[in-house]
Amino acid sequence: MDSNEPPHYRISRIARELEAKGLDIIHMEIGDPELDTDKRIIDAMYRAALEGYTHYGFSQGLPELRDAIAEYLNSKLDTDLDRDNICLTPGGKVAIYLTLRLLNKKRIGVLEPIWGLYHSFSKVIDLEVVSIRSEFENRWIPTDEEIRKFGETDIISLVNPSNPTGTILPKETIDKIVEIASEKGGYIVADELYFDLTYGKTRFTSFLEYDYDNTISIFSFSKNFAMTGFRVGFIASTSKDLITRFARYMRLVLGGVPPFIQFAALEALNNKDIIERNRKFYKEQTRYLMNELKKLGFRMVEPEAGIYLFPKVPEGIDGIEFVEKLLTLGRVAVSPGTGFGDYPDFVRFTTALKKEKLEEAVKRIRHTLEEMV
Ligand SMILES: Cc1ncc(COP(=O)(O)O)c(C=O)c1O
Repeated sequence: MDSNEPPHYRISRIARELEAKGLDIIHMEIGDPELDTDKRIIDAMYRAALEGYTHYGFSQGLPELRDAIAEYLNSKLDTDLDRDNICLTPGGKVAIYLTLRLLNKKRIGVLEPIWGLYHSFSKVIDLEVVSIRSEFENRWIPTDEEIRKFGETDIISLVNPSNPTGTILPKETIDKIVEIASEKGGYIVADELYFDLTYGKTRFTSFLEYDYDNTISIFSFSKNFAMTGFRVGFIASTSKDLITRFARYMRLVLGGVPPFIQFAALEALNNKDIIERNRKFYKEQTRYLMNELKKLGFRMVEPEAGIYLFPKVPEGIDGIEFVEKLLTLGRVAVSPGTGFGDYPDFVRFTTALKKEKLEEAVKRIRHTLEEMV
């Protein structure tokens, strides 16, 4: 087995092996919303392909699309970005990987729990990882002492709103992180993919709102527009120089996002009602599952954004064993907390599934727990 394989990828692989043997599995381990992509987006992609947008081109991104993205960010955030602050990427994952490669540093601080790919990418490119922990008991907000550890690193990385916890960091925490970074001129890689899928009380604060140029923010069309298979995302930075360097690198390695996909992304941004509809779905599904899991003895901080829950397993249950049993006995795949840092008592559930599927999952979870006590 590949040692860089994140634990939730491993669970997903085993789940697919079980499916190949004829078992029906409910997938809650991967964040792929059970929503169809809006037809207007698909039509725009098809139209663009028929119009001949099937060649190389727009490696930094179609100018009108970058304008639309800058305008969208400016409308949601306290920013003044334009097209030169944006570079399109084939999804958020590649954006993170190429950013870390481009920065070419030695030590990365990751705010845990964190989406496991940060650990995997760091391993692949030989970055030494410094874990900055946050705790359930502190509502997943890092203490000042932990935040200070970021000062020992060259790159600060975090996911806000968080995958897996759905927490939004308060502005005071972001202020402190920017201050630590600026003391040494360190870089900040802020994964802000879930910024427009918020439904809690805390206002989202972007790192792009600060007068600190060594920052790259990561975004994607995957979840807000339910376009995971399109593979389209982007990075934004207040530093146009960083964007230019990144765009050159993107061109060298990937040549850009396929033009017809970029036209689909442009159509998506011209129809923001889609985000509102999807956000409502995510909120409702997350709330439903949260309430059902609480009834079963799971404890969690109520998420304020995104499509996940990260509860602590009920008292007396072993987290790792629960994940294994839930898959083999309950036929529900979830991600173990160890995929996000050292959190063996926690489990991540993807909530963006249709109601009937969530109801069935709850039944299976209940049954598995009954078998385990
Ligand atoms: C925090 C975070 N960053 C990046 C990604 C990657 O998204 P994309 O589909 O755009 O590659 C995900 C996907 O789940 C994510 O949760």
